[in-house]
Amino acid sequence: MKILVTGGLGFIGSHTVVELQNEGFEVIAVDNLSNSSEKVLDGISTITGKKPIFEKIDLRDKASVQDLFKKYTDIAGVIHFAASKAVGESVENPLLYYENNINALVYLLQELKELPNVSFIFSSSCTVYGQAEKMPITENASVQPAISPYGNTKQIGEEIITDVAKVSNISAVLLRYFNPIGAHPSTEIGELPLGVPQNLVPFITQTAIGLREQLSVYGNDYATPDGTAIRDYIHVVDLAKAHVIALQRLLKRQNVEKVEIFNLGTGTGSSVLEVITAFEKVSNQKLNYKIVGRREGDITSAYANTDKANTVLGWKAQSSLEEALKSAWKWEQKIRG
Ligand code: NAD
Ligand code: WQD
Repeated sequence: MKILVTGGLGFIGSHTVVELQNEGFEVIAVDNLSNSSEKVLDGISTITGKKPIFEKIDLRDKASVQDLFKKYTDIAGVIHFAASKAVGESVENPLLYYENNINALVYLLQELKELPNVSFIFSSSCTVYGQAEKMPITENASVQPAISPYGNTKQIGEEIITDVAKVSNISAVLLRYFNPIGAHPSTEIGELPLGVPQNLVPFITQTAIGLREQLSVYGNDYATPDGTAIRDYIHVVDLAKAHVIALQRLLKRQNVEKVEIFNLGTGTGSSVLEVITAFEKVSNQKLNYKIVGRREGDITSAYANTDKANTVLGWKAQSSLEEALKSAWKWEQKIRG
């Protein structure tokens, strides 16, 4: 059964391609390599013994998307990861984000709505909740006005898919990820941030390896036990496995609604200082960090209520924060080694 994975060479996409191939799915990975490298295909094939079909396509090019569906007429499901994801860059250049994250989605859906019974999975984000009133966050928490153009593309994306599902054969799962971290335990694939990382864990590993001098901890005056902000860090392999389960649910038509939403997190919140302490433990070294002012747009706390994913999807994150950090550290050491 052929599954199209857009952004299939990216961080979460590549780990999901591995899990799909492990479950016997035939994968067509599409990527324009704007934030990834063709070498990722070798990592995937070393782990699984199989290279996915790869199509280097920019999904902003409508004709290329049309040609893709002319070439492959038996696509049963689509997992749509391809997007630009840097929050700060989206504030600087909103049109780039609206073009890449919205146009590509629209072009894909235009092709998919012509097909019988399509299963569609969308990479959404906990950013849609903004600063939720109640922790842990359930899927029923209200969607807040977007903090950034990037966040807005996720909200609009969810709405577009919901509108199209109402009038087509598309069934969809919207997966709201919390904070994905880590790398495959084989260290064959992992995260490859371009330039200076904006996210906490790649910044930590790059500091520990000596690529950055010091980690800035953005604020210790939050209303949290140690004053630093709290997030729900989830191992990327756990996240990848959830996609396979969600896909199987759609393919078996087990979905109750045409569009279902699931939070993907561990259910446990960790503060920035707790992440640093856990990292120091697994890497057996002190991390050079200093407390600085808050980063604009940051929220105090976000962690998932995972009851719906646990019971309805039948998925639960397995890895601890320490295991995830250990894999991120092993990956950093490998790519700089
Ligand atoms: P990533 O940048 O590693 O992967 C995205 C992939 O899509 C890259 O390989 C990139 O080259 C490709 N791509 C981008 N635009 C494309 C286009 N126009 N045509 C074809 N390919 C294109 O990012 P990721 O961390 O793997 O994120 C995957 C998805 O998950 C994104 O939609 C992202 O917004 C979402 N998400 C990520 C996080 C996170 O913290 N990593 C959190 C929540 C949601
Ligand atoms: C985590 C915590 C920072 C870097 C972002 C996006 C969100 C989602 C995930 C895609 C925060 C602190 C960070 C540093 C620090 N992506 N931090 N020093 O902000 O929760 O979410 O990525 O959908 O949309 O907004 O993740 O990893 O950037 O930060 O102190 O150098 O670490 O302030 O409290 P965030 P993050």
